[in-house]
Amino acid sequence: MKKFQFVNPTKIIFGKGEIQSLAKEIPIDRKVLILYGGGSIKKSGLLEEIKTVLKDYQLGEFGGIEPNPAYETLMQAVELIRKENYDFLLAVGGGSVIDGTKFIAAAVPFTQDDPWKMIVEGLPIDQALPFAAVLTLPATGSEMNNGAVITRKSLQAKLPFFSPVGFPKFSILDPVYTYTLPEKQIGNGVVDAFVHVMEQYLTYPVQAKVQDRFSEGLLLTLVEEGPKALETPEDYDVRANLMWTATLALNGLIGSGVPQDWSTHMVGHEITALYGLDHAQTLAIVLPSMLEVMKEEKNVKLLQYGERIWNLASDLPAREKSALAIEKTREFFEAMGVKTRFSDYGLGEEVIEKIITSLEAHGMVKLGEKGTVTPQIVRQVLTLSL
Ligand code: NZQ
Ligand code: ZN
Repeated sequence: MKKFQFVNPTKIIFGKGEIQSLAKEIPIDRKVLILYGGGSIKKSGLLEEIKTVLKDYQLGEFGGIEPNPAYETLMQAVELIRKENYDFLLAVGGGSVIDGTKFIAAAVPFTQDDPWKMIVEGLPIDQALPFAAVLTLPATGSEMNNGAVITRKSLQAKLPFFSPVGFPKFSILDPVYTYTLPEKQIGNGVVDAFVHVMEQYLTYPVQAKVQDRFSEGLLLTLVEEGPKALETPEDYDVRANLMWTATLALNGLIGSGVPQDWSTHMVGHEITALYGLDHAQTLAIVLPSMLEVMKEEKNVKLLQYGERIWNLASDLPAREKSALAIEKTREFFEAMGVKTRFSDYGLGEEVIEKIITSLEAHGMVKLGEKGTVTPQIVRQVLTLSL
């Protein structure tokens, strides 16, 4: 196992009815801005519920944060907050609203320059407004991590950033708020969480037994519970298991002390920035082909994954086992309703060089756990994904 530090200051408040805790967790003297997306929280009644719980606070609202949150939108919130002096942000939604809020929280005190530079130039981010989240879509893990991915539409760029002040103060996870998710978002969430685990698990062995077993437990839970969420959307236990799994998949725990890949994510971000596909759709396109192209380098873990997640017989020939493990992965994504080929989204080979050019422009030329995923390798991966 490698050396590591594990820090996670986010308090998780989990369970039905926990929205009531908001009033205990936010200091009463705070001026609170509620941030949300395109309106699902109005339709579901969640916004009204929150306003009732926070009736004794000074409150404001900022809606319209879109999927793959855009710098252009988020800067409007930054201006509003600077003008009206909000001093606590409450993100209510999925990964996009929470990520957007992380950017806003850091951008408000960053007055010396354009906050986009925090991301592209990797400037140190050591101050942020306090913020918290009410999660409505289990997928990204943003509710318990310090990362965010922001899009700048005018540049067709979608880039991640991390900061020590990027953790929510607390996050409320009530599985009941996920009942209203459309099927597409249920599938997207399961695939995203699955790929988060894979990016931290399917690398090379470092004798990190507990990280492996944790990861396998998360993958098995997604495989077992994911399809049930499509079949019986109002099953509390199914939703609760998926919600907690997605959070644990990317809160730093399973990635501690082990090599990490993230090549599928970095390629996926370029695809979203260029063609607007949902985040999980890009992962479903890239991951099976990435495993295929990298199967020699990942051989030991790929075989372990095949045996422990897909019950492949230990005496199957290695070549056959790795091929089946990849095939089962693709079938699972498809069963969750997330298509795995560019052609399923009306895209063809014209995309390949554009994606490679974007990766190069963003310096993403040595990806993967060993830095061996070069543009040449990505070209092979994308070709296999057509
Ligand atoms: O905007 P509203 O109207 O709320 O609708 C949203 C949105 O259209 C809808 N939705 C959310 N909860 C709902 C609901 N509809 C009905 N009922 C509910 N309970 O779902 C749509 C998608 O929402 P979004 O937040 O975009 O989805 P997701 O949570 O998958 O977030 C994706 C974003 O997170 C980034 C992705 O790149 C993408 O930008 N990621 C963030 C990560 C992180 N911070 O650690 C890691 C991930 O790998 C990922 O990159
Ligand atoms: Zn992801």
